[in-house]
Amino acid sequence: MTHAHITAWVVALLLFFVTVSLQRGNSPKARMMQMILRLFYLIIIGTGALLLHSIASIPPLYIVKVLVGVWVIGAMEMILVRASKGKSTNMFWLQFVIAFIIVVYLGLKLPLGFYLS
Ligand code: HEM
Repeated sequence: MTHAHITAWVVALLLFFVTVSLQRGNSPKARMMQMILRLFYLIIIGTGALLLHSIASIPPLYIVKVLVGVWVIGAMEMILVRASKGKSTNMFWLQFVIAFIIVVYLGLKLPLGFYLS
């Protein structure tokens, strides 16, 4: 499940950047890519939920991991929606970068799956 979770967010990250560049080029394909990206949000949440399901009692840091994971997804969605409306996205890019770093750090720090050290 760890592999599925990592695959899901890596694919989502790629789709996100592809969608951003399609949007900048005013491509009509941007909306379709955004729909596929939303499907991947659900896969990230689903695989994350299954990872949670594999532990008996959930330590508080896992709750933080889940919330920050949802925050990353929220930031990606806000960037795309606001950009499509021509609104500024700077604050959400900042949130995206911060939340992404925190969530990867927490994901690797928490005991399931891979270890860095
Ligand atoms: C874009 C958003 C997300 C990113 C970049 C991300 C990243 C990661 C990473 C790097 C890991 C570590 C995998 C490993 O141990 O090798 C992980 C594990 C995990 N993630 Fe996520 N995640 C995201 C969203 C979510 C969401 C939304 C949930 C909950 C619904 C979630 C729940 C979990 C759980 C429970 C683990 C296992 C933690 C452990 O290793 O003990 N993640 N995630």
